[in-house]
Parts: sequence; C-alpha cells; structure tokens
Amino acid sequence: MAALKLLYGKGEIVVPTLTWVSDIVSVIQNNFKPVFVDINPKNLCMSESQIIKKVNNKTLAVFMTHVQGFNGLSDKLISFLKKRKILLIEDVCESHGATFNNKKLGTFGKISNFSFYYAHHMSTIEGGAVCTNDKSVYELVRILRSHGMARESDNAKFEKKMIKKYPKLSPQFIFLYPGYNFRNNEIGAAIGINQLKLLNKNNIKRRKNFNLFLKLIDRSKYRTDFDVKGSCNYAFPVILKTKNIKRRNKFEKILLRQKIEFRRGNAGGGNQLRQPYLKEFAKKINFKNFSEVDHIHSFGYYIGNYPSLTKNKIRKICKILNSIKL
Ligand SMILES: Cc1ncc(COP(=O)(O)O)c(C=O)c1O
Repeated sequence: MAALKLLYGKGEIVVPTLTWVSDIVSVIQNNFKPVFVDINPKNLCMSESQIIKKVNNKTLAVFMTHVQGFNGLSDKLISFLKKRKILLIEDVCESHGATFNNKKLGTFGKISNFSFYYAHHMSTIEGGAVCTNDKSVYELVRILRSHGMARESDNAKFEKKMIKKYPKLSPQFIFLYPGYNFRNNEIGAAIGINQLKLLNKNNIKRRKNFNLFLKLIDRSKYRTDFDVKGSCNYAFPVILKTKNIKRRNKFEKILLRQKIEFRRGNAGGGNQLRQPYLKEFAKKINFKNFSEVDHIHSFGYYIGNYPSLTKNKIRKICKILNSIKL
C-alpha cells in the first residue's frame, strides 16, 4: 500500500471484511479510502458481484484476500478489472500453493503478498514476501522495506542517479521516502529456503487431509459446499449452519474440553467492521449488507490442518464435531 501511494497517490481500495487486520490498516495508514465488501460463502473471499457493484471511477485497486486456502478469483472478475484498468492486489498469506485456472495464486495481481508467520503453510518464524513482476514496484518495495534507502533499490543506474541528484548527502545514506524496517534476517532465510523445499509435498498432504475432513463432517450441521477447485487449506473451516448463540457457546466448551484448538471468525476474527479500530467507518455501514461475513463472525471457526495430522486424528475430530448437538 505504501508503494501504491507513492506510485499512484490517492484513490479507493476495495477490501474484504473477512481478512487479517493488516490488509485494511495498511489501506487506511496510506490514506486510501477502504470500500468494504461482503463475502461469498462458497470460498469466504470477497463477493465478485459486490466488488463489481462497488467499483467506480475513483477505484484504484481491489485487494483480494484468498481466505484460508480458497481461491477468490474468477475469469469474470479478472477481465472486469482489466477492462476498467483497476489494479488487482492479492493477499496469499493463507493460501500458499493454491491455484486458479492451474496457475498459482499470487501470479495474477500486480502485487501479491505472502506471510511466513508460523501458523501458515510455510514459515520463517516471522516475515513474509511481496511478489511483483513490475520493476518499479520491485525497486520501490525494496527501498521501503529498508528505511527508504536508495542503495537498497537493486538498480545501480538508479542509485548513481540519486547520488548525482543529492551531492551533499553521503552516497550510502540517501533516504528517499519515509520507509520501514521490514528486513528478514539470515536465520529466517535459512529456515524459509528449507521450508520452501517441503511446501509442495506438505500441500499434497494438506489437500488429502482436507478432502477427508469434508467427507467425514456432518453436512446437516456444518457447511461443506465450498468451491474447492485449486484450494490448498492450512485450516479446516468449521462453519455452523445454525444461528444459535447458546448452542455455539456449548460447542466451544466441548471443543475446549476435548482439547481441539480452534479460532472463531475464520480469517482474522470475523467481520473486521465489528472491530474497534474501524468504528468510525462502521458508522456509515448498513450491516444488513454484510450478512454472510456476519454469519462467519459468530458461527464460523477453523481448526488446524497440518501435514503430520493423521487420518485417525481427523476421524476423531469429525466424530466429536458430528456428535455435538447444534
Ligand atoms: C490474510 C492475511 N494477510 C496478512 C497476514 C499478516 O501476516 P503477518 O503476520 O506475517 O504480518 C495474515 C496473518 O495471519 C493473514 O492471514
């Protein structure tokens, strides 16, 4: 978002209501206007029809989060954005290895971002990556992640130009923009390189786990009608069909007692619009237009799907889930 601000200035950015907090905070912090969209219950990602409705001539970008391993793209959306010259930014933090039209997610947008926080498909403990095939974005992001320093651009010609432009500055310390310190370190890199080698193999296991989970879970109690094509989930979505808070609370108690770790609200704790940091924005929101994400907010959960999870454990988890009265 900081790079987009330097390259394009102002505008509206269409953002999901079900995502991690940083996707919206980065938009606000860079003085873009966030435009919120409800989700498609089949993939938990932004609803295609709502995106199309909310785009206008101020829209600079659509910031699509591929939620918990699901693909949020469609041919219709991609061609619509292309036609309207609107940038696509992909958040693939929760969907490393997932595909659309047999092509990896994160390769469709102008910029995509991946998290290597340890809860995800691969880890460097903390850290992440930004991907782009646009040279100007690449150079700018490199500069921004390292205090805004010109020498980090990876472009010797550009660096020379800056040294010439600012002759009174020390050539090694030309700070072009108010940047950040988002550098990873050698230890993180060493871990990440090795994790990357395991990613495809581990993702095959995750896909198998996920299919077994969907097969065993009781579809009269939990949603199973997801668009699974190309998906690669590090989590099992456990979305209650019922809207009964008392039963939901009991459901949570049973899971805690059975030592099944879970998170309510799926990606990032549910509807971001219900969080205090967005209270000023929420005043203008008609929550009736956000019924799908609100269902996830109160009745959506996920539990971990990791490569070493055994079939027996998945069977046991499903047996417990299926036995709960909802
Ligand atoms: C969709 C999404 N985007 C961004 C992030 C932030 O990643 P990090 O914790 O590496 O900053 C997360 C983290 O869980 C996420 O799930």
